[in-house]
Amino acid sequence: HRDLTGLAGLAPWEILYLLDEAQQWVELNRQSHKRMDRLKGLTIINAFFENSTRTLLSFEIAGKRLGADVVNMHAAQSSVKKGETLIDTAMTLNAMHADAIVIRHQSSGAVRLIADKVDCPVLNAGDGQHEHPTQGLLDALTIRTEKGEIAGLKIVICGDILHSRVARSNIHCLTTLGADVRVCAPPALMPADIEALKVTPYHDFDAALAGTDVVMMLRLQQERMEGQFIPSPREYRHLYGLSLDRLAKAKPDAMVMHPGPMNRGIEIDSTVADLAGRSHITRQVEMGVAIRMACLDVLTRKARGLEGWA
Ligand code: CP
Repeated sequence: HRDLTGLAGLAPWEILYLLDEAQQWVELNRQSHKRMDRLKGLTIINAFFENSTRTLLSFEIAGKRLGADVVNMHAAQSSVKKGETLIDTAMTLNAMHADAIVIRHQSSGAVRLIADKVDCPVLNAGDGQHEHPTQGLLDALTIRTEKGEIAGLKIVICGDILHSRVARSNIHCLTTLGADVRVCAPPALMPADIEALKVTPYHDFDAALAGTDVVMMLRLQQERMEGQFIPSPREYRHLYGLSLDRLAKAKPDAMVMHPGPMNRGIEIDSTVADLAGRSHITRQVEMGVAIRMACLDVLTRKARGLEGWA
């Protein structure tokens, strides 16, 4: 079987295949009758070792809309709290014969570790600072839906790049699809290896915004800070916050995006986050359900005796 632990190394056609597969579910999700039986009889386990609203709920809704039985394991209420190791937890989940396991974990690489121990496809719902592949895919689908094509677009990702698995997955996805990606962060929140990711780094947000088609804002991940010197919230907003004045430096039709959860008034002003016609933040959430339906469908095809994505 094949897992989805990251977007690094995927070919353009593989990413486009998942986006095309998701397209059909966007329409279905807007109808009043949303239930399919494509994954009927399958069991999907969502194992979340870290908090989530969007990813957990949308994976649960995605599995249920395709007819699967979906169960959620929250680490806070599990035997992880009694000292069970990650490997033992993985072996326990495996013994229940799930057909797919969706995992969010605070440690980079934890999802790969589990994927190597279990017999079914594993989908990464965000691991530490590493990757959040379905977020990268849903962002690409949101952009493609609005702009038609991703190749050639100028896209700026601004914020806590260092700690952001969302930034990493988006960088892999968008550069693979031919976008010109700029990243902008305070010096302390820019990864040392950023040049290797085929993006252009900036510390000056006004310069980074000039002429962009898409402006993607990120949250400061206070929970992952390890003593980095960062500006105060007030200074951060002044230097890196997206206000209406600042948005005017991007193209007149530039899309505003944010993976959520947002810290309104810090990295993004409410006037921008709620700007009709320009903010695509709720559209991103809508696309998230369709992308997760496509990923669950495609990754379980082999187990259902169908031609897979591999
Ligand atoms: N964007 C995202 O992953 O949000 P959650 O943490 O709420 O799942």
